[in-house]
Parts: sequence; C-alpha cells; structure tokens
Amino acid sequence: MTTVTRSALPHSLAALAAVALGLAHLAQPLTAAEAPVVTDHPDMTWFSDARLGIFIHWGIYSEGKSSESWALHDGILSHDEYYAQAATFTAANYHPEKWAELFKAAGARYAVLTSKHHDGFALWDTAQSKLNAKDGSPAGRDLVGPFCEAMRGEGLKVGLYFSHLDWSHPDYASVLKDGEMTPSERANRYSYPQGPENPEAWERFLKFHRAQLKEIAERFHPDLLWFDGDWERSAAQWRMPELRRQLKAWLPSVILNSRMGGYGDYATPEQALPVHPPAGPWELCMTINDSWGYQARDHNFKSVRQVVRLLTECASQGGNLLLDVGPRSDGTITPEEEAVLRGLGRWTHKNAEALYGSLAGIPKDYYYGPSLLNKERNVLYLVCYDRPVDGVYVKGINNEIKKVSVVGGPDLSWRRFMRAEWAHQPGILVVDLPAAAVDPDATVIRIELGGPISLKDN
Ligand code: GLC
Repeated sequence: MTTVTRSALPHSLAALAAVALGLAHLAQPLTAAEAPVVTDHPDMTWFSDARLGIFIHWGIYSEGKSSESWALHDGILSHDEYYAQAATFTAANYHPEKWAELFKAAGARYAVLTSKHHDGFALWDTAQSKLNAKDGSPAGRDLVGPFCEAMRGEGLKVGLYFSHLDWSHPDYASVLKDGEMTPSERANRYSYPQGPENPEAWERFLKFHRAQLKEIAERFHPDLLWFDGDWERSAAQWRMPELRRQLKAWLPSVILNSRMGGYGDYATPEQALPVHPPAGPWELCMTINDSWGYQARDHNFKSVRQVVRLLTECASQGGNLLLDVGPRSDGTITPEEEAVLRGLGRWTHKNAEALYGSLAGIPKDYYYGPSLLNKERNVLYLVCYDRPVDGVYVKGINNEIKKVSVVGGPDLSWRRFMRAEWAHQPGILVVDLPAAAVDPDATVIRIELGGPISLKDN
C-alpha cells in the first residue's frame, strides 16, 4: 500500500517529508482536494471508463435561500433558522427514476447523492439520530434507497457522499485538531470545543460515525463512497487507515475518493480545472452554476459548450467530470439545469466512442489541444473547440493514416505537410475541417491509424 499522509503535518513539513520520501511532485503545499491517494484498488475500470458523473446536493438547505451547511457554520443563518428549513423539506415531487432518466440522457455513467452533508441531516432513516428525512422532515421516508434503485435501474453506478464532520452532533466539537488551528476555526462552536477537550466524547462520535457508515454499506451497497469534511481533524484522529480497511471489508470493490486524509483511491480537485492532472485516477467536481445546493438567486449557469469543454479537458487528461445539480426541496431539478444536462447529452451521445473507455491522448507538443486514444491506441481523437482558419495540424505521427473523419459526421480530407522521408520525418498531418462539419460545442476528429500510435521524438 503506497500512501503519504500530510494531514497531521503543517504544509511546509509535509513538503519536506515528501521530498525526503522521494516524492518531489508532492512537495508543493497540498489542499485536501489534492491529497495523494492509495494505489492498491484492484480494479477501477468502471470509474476510469465512465468519464461523466452527476453530483446531487440535496438536503434541508434546498429551500433555496442559502448555502448547504456553510450558512450554519458561518453564521449566515442562526442555528434555529438553519434547522427550521427541515420543515419545508417535503420531497413531494421526488421521482428518482426521472433523475435517472435525465442523468442517463446527459451521458452520465454514475451519480453521487449527498446522503449526509456537514449539517448532519441524513437523507436515509438512520437509526443513529433523529436528524433524518424520515424522522425530522415532512418527507417522512428514506430517500436514499429509492435513489439507489432508480440509478441502478438505468444502469448507472451509485455513489453516496458522506461528510465525516458533523456540525450537528453534540459530541463532534469535542477534540482539538492536531497541530495548528486558524483563529476562525478556534472560535467556531460547531467545529471545536469551547471548553476543555473531551476525548470520551470524541470516542462516542467515532462510534456514531462508523455506525452510520455501516448502515450505508449494508443497506445501500454503494459502488463509490464520496467523502468530504476530513479537514477539521487529522487522519490519525479519524483513524483513516482503520476506516479504509473497514469500508473495504464491508464493500470489497467500493471506490473511495481522496477526502480520507489521503487514504482514498482517487484525487478530487474541486471547482477549478487542474492545469496539470493529478497523479493517478482523478475526478473534477464542478457546479453547473456557482452553488452546490439549490439557491434561488444563483442564475450563473455554465453553457453546454463550457461544460463540454470541461468534460473533454478532464477526459483528455485521464480524469472524470462530476457535474453537480441542486434539486429543490420538493425533489425537482430546475429547468435551467435540466437544459444543460440535455444539451450535454446531445454531445456525449454523438461522441460516445471517443469519450467512454478511452485513454488520455498525446502530448500537447504534437497537437495543441485535448486528445484521446482508444484502448488499442490505434485511433486518435482530436477535440477542436474552434473553427480552424487553415487546417487542423498534428505533428510527428509515424503511423500510416487509414482514415480521417468527424465522430458522428463526414469523412475528412487530409495530407502530410513537410514530410521528409529521407530523414525519417513524418511531417505534419493537416486535416481539413469544413465549416459544415463543425460541431457547435466541440468537434471530435477521428484518425484511424495503421497500428498503435507511434510518435516521432525529434
Ligand atoms: C466542499 C464543501 C461542500 C461541498 C463539497 C463538494 O468541500 O464543503 O459544501 O459539498 O465541497 O465537493
């Protein structure tokens, strides 16, 4: 098991430790989202092939007036105001099979639902606390089971988000963080004890945390557990190695994201496309507008074109996109979000052969844009966001070119430019992309090669 933890160390020490361990690429200060991951998962193929997942932030905050959980933590709503939102959490129009139809139409291969966010409100009828959809809201029933069933009914894999930290639990704010705390952390009554530290309360909290996860594992058998909120305690305090072992014992093939203090299976950058991809499997989580949960005032929706761009930027670097929607308290997805998902679906279905199950493409020195390769490495896909003035240029392809076409479109003409056979120079492949073949969101050019791709070094 290869793992590096940094949570117990200040950033600079973590950097020194990384260098000392020969992991210079980890020597930069890391955010939780970039924490290194364990690399011993026996088979993550479904995840790496999937490319697109849908994230759903749904809870008592879905009334739409403020943010998920943070409105409580940051004092934007008082404790009472925040939890009073449970009274309007009706789930009256919750039809997860409609969600599943929509997500599938968007081209997603998995979906991740917030089973419990930082506010501690559980969407399933947990026996560990009354703060749940059945006992604590007019929804009056378990909402996670029907979600899992509906997703599986459409062939989607099931992910459940779970916040380690729980700002509602009386025993949670009982133990201080290892190492340093910021002044605002120190002052926050939801995160840290205002009086002396109470290790017994922390033990009780860990029992509760494990018991809820056991319920989730045994009842819903998620394919993926998407953790969050590890940052207020160290990996040692959470006993992450033990938790990882326990989760893998309950669910042998489960995939864990990295927010396990570094003990997860894949990296989880958030809200910003990484310039250089993280090492190993990864997934970018991103909102369609600027909010995770439904917020009535947020109309800053990304366009279909922007989402296609994000998706292809991720895929071409070997990553997935986990695109977030925020349904309203009644369980309906807003028309604006639905329109983006359906628009995305037009593109993903047309370009399915390039997207799913493909590999990261060729280095940018050869093609100035994102590219992908099929698993046999004998079909190269070039993603073009813009309409070329001249042709589309690719340098250094040694292989015979068998055929060039637009995925889901016409065949294209091509030629070799500056070929110098005497010097073994394959020259530049120039593909003509006529305006009529350009896709409004992103055109994918398919280049069929005579064998596995071979690129000229110099
Ligand atoms: C952050 C936020 C949280 C959100 C999550 C999604 O960690 O705390 O509100 O659920 O990101 O990635």
